[in-house]
Formats: sequence, C-alpha cells, structure tokens
Amino acid sequence: MKMYDIIHNKREGKKHSAEEISHLIEGYVSEEIPDYQVSAWAMAVYFQGMDAEETAFLTEAVVNSGDRIDLSPLSGTTVDKHSTGGVGDTTTLVLVPLVAAAGVPVPKMSGRGLGHTGGTIDKLESIPGLEVEMSRREFLDQVEKVGAAVVGQTANLTPADKKLYSLRDVTATVDSPPLIASSIMGKKIAGGADSIVLDVKTGSGAFMQKIEAARKLAELMVGIGKELDRKTLALLTDMSQPLGRMVGNSLEVKEAIKTLSGEGPEDLEKLCLELGAAMLKAGGYSPDLDEAQSRLQDQLNSGNARQKLAEIIAAQGGEAGVVEDTGLLPSAENVESYRSPAGGYIADIDARRIGRAAMLLGAGRETKEDEIDYSAGIELMVSRGDPVDEDQMLARLHHGKKADLEEAEKLLKGAFSISGQPPANFDFIIDLIE
Ligand code: URA
Ligand code: CA
Repeated sequence: MKMYDIIHNKREGKKHSAEEISHLIEGYVSEEIPDYQVSAWAMAVYFQGMDAEETAFLTEAVVNSGDRIDLSPLSGTTVDKHSTGGVGDTTTLVLVPLVAAAGVPVPKMSGRGLGHTGGTIDKLESIPGLEVEMSRREFLDQVEKVGAAVVGQTANLTPADKKLYSLRDVTATVDSPPLIASSIMGKKIAGGADSIVLDVKTGSGAFMQKIEAARKLAELMVGIGKELDRKTLALLTDMSQPLGRMVGNSLEVKEAIKTLSGEGPEDLEKLCLELGAAMLKAGGYSPDLDEAQSRLQDQLNSGNARQKLAEIIAAQGGEAGVVEDTGLLPSAENVESYRSPAGGYIADIDARRIGRAAMLLGAGRETKEDEIDYSAGIELMVSRGDPVDEDQMLARLHHGKKADLEEAEKLLKGAFSISGQPPANFDFIIDLIE
C-alpha cells in the first residue's frame, strides 16, 4: 500500500478502507510516513470528509497506537464525560462528586489547561495538599472505596493523536469534524470508559462556532460510539459566553462548591444536572432523563454531593475543610474592578477574550512550562441580557504580581458588547443527540 494512493483516493472523494487507515496511522507513528504526506491527507479529509464508518476506523487506529486503560476490575459500568472545550467550564468539578453520590463509579482522568481554556487538574491542584498522581492500583481502590478519583494522565494514551493534533494545528486542519471526532473519541475509548457523555459546544468560545457544524460533530461522535460499542450521548450547548461567573483555578473550585451547595449560578447548575442525567442514562443507571435529574437534584438538596467532594479531596490528601470554608483556598493579593464604559444591555460576553484575559492575569499557561497563579482569574458580575448603568462593575480581576493587568483590561474592553436593546433570547442547552 502506498501513502500516495491513500492521499489520492481521499482527494477524489473515495471512501477509505480499514486497512488504508491503519497503514496510515501505524506508518505515521513509526515515522515511516512523513509529516508532509499526512498534511496533504488531512487537507483532503478537510475538503472531502469521512463517513461514520471511516471515522470509526480512524478512531480505532488512534486507540491502537498506544496504551489502553483497563477499568474492568471496577464493579459497575463506568461513564466518562468530555467537553469539546470551554472557558470557565467548571462542570467536571461538580459532576464528579454529583454523579458519584448517585452511585456511579467515576474514574476520571483529566488534563491541564493550555491557552484560553482551563484544565480540571490545575483547578484541583489549587486545593492545598491535593495530589493528582497515584498508581493505577491506588486509583482503582479509591474509586471502589470513595466512588470517584481524579488523576492526571500518565499512561501513553493515543500517541497518534498527539502527533496528528500538532500537525493539524499548523496546517489549518483542526476544524474538520471527522478529525475532531476521532481525536476526542479515541482518547475516551483508550481511557477505558464503557459509556460516554459529550458536551459539544457551539458559539464564539467553541471550535465549532456554528450550530449546524457542532450538530454534525455531535452526530458523528455518537455514531462512532455505536460502531465501537460504547453507548454515547451528546448535549449540544451554547458557549458564546463563559459558563458560570468564575474563570480561574481556585475561583472555579469555589464556584463548584457553591453549586454543590445549591447556591451556584443557574446556567452551571442546569448544565451539570443535564449532563449528569445523560451520564446516568448512558451508563444504564436510570431509564430516563427526568428520573435521573430528580435523583441528582436529591443528591444536591441533601448535601450528599457536597459531602462526596469532601471525601474525594480527603482521599487525595487535600484539605477537605475547603468545602465548609472556601476561605482556606488561595486568594489573590489584589482585586481590581472593571467598570462599564456605557449604559445599556449586555449583548454579548466573548468567552475567548475572557479566557485569554484570565490567562494574562496568571490563571493559565502560554507554554507547557509556565507556572500558574492558582488564585488569579476573573469574576463576572453580569451575564448576557442584564441591564447595566455606566460605571457599573462588570467584572473583578483577581491577580498577583505576575499579572499583565494592562493587556488583560484591553481584552476585557473588547469582550463586553453593550447595546441599547436587550439581546434576543437564546437556548443555552440546544439539543440532546443519541
Ligand atoms: N479536542 C480534541 O481533543 N481534539 C480535537 O481534534 C479538537 C478538540
Ligand atoms: Ca465557571
């Protein structure tokens, strides 16, 4: 088989066989096939697309390129959740204890943040003492005993995806639905989940800014789940403004604790209940979404979900007292107000700009080696649609010495659009695809 023919076939809109795809992925990982040929192929895929079956072949090849986590020693079906990337997306911190409190085992592997999006591992590390590294044995034991564990990724999962993603990043081929779908589903399947819930974002803060493209992506991933025997549900949700009010590490831990106490922002609570219900359904723990939501609501109201977070933190060596007293979390030396330049209505809050601004305050990394200021970030005081007066506080900037305050304020100026008219109503949770 020649790589030239594989590229030519896709350029002409032909369907790949499983053999063609595994030849390509194996050859790329072993460096027998060079970057320039894989670049040309990725561009052909960008224009010609791939159907559900080809995308499933690609996903399998990506999974087979590295290790697979074996979660079969755990009793009970496991459900993983994945978001296609957001700003201030605090859902994992809420969902892990919430779903675990409802009896679902949650072995969660998470990543660190890079660029304008945050990572769950960094957020958890802002809790004093908390460890995210443990052996496989300790990880599974904690899930059996406590119901959930959250660790950083150590195994060599999907090396083909790492190479392919870096290549796509510099060849304008990231935003291709089959390439995104196989990248995400490959990682989830290698991570060992029996069933998968996806939060597919659309809007200014998302990869797929248009609803129809995001819907296609969601359908493709649900289709891959079917082909590969992993029950998969996808929610299509709006990410044109940041989720909740907090963006930053210890700020989002605080926000998660508030939400688990029933005092969180409405959008975050709603999304967590919907995603959690989809997790219960996908894992076969609940026959329907309404029943699942009311069970999760009970776990919130009774305080069980919040108590579960304290147990997880304690099991990982962290200061569990933060759940009762968020004052034990790191807090910033300085808090600056950002005020509205005009009166009117908040027409839009650009999630990407807010994410970048939080990063410049110290909450994120530009490169993998950068150090994070756990206490830095942005607290939004308004949401889309709110009426505001001139000089009203729109946001609070939490920062320390490392912050580039001037640049962050410039980004905030561009992030808030203020209009004479209230914006049209919009659906925050757009659809469920199964
Ligand atoms: N997230 C991923 O993991 N992969 C992609 O290709 C895009 C977003
Ligand atoms: Ca948030």
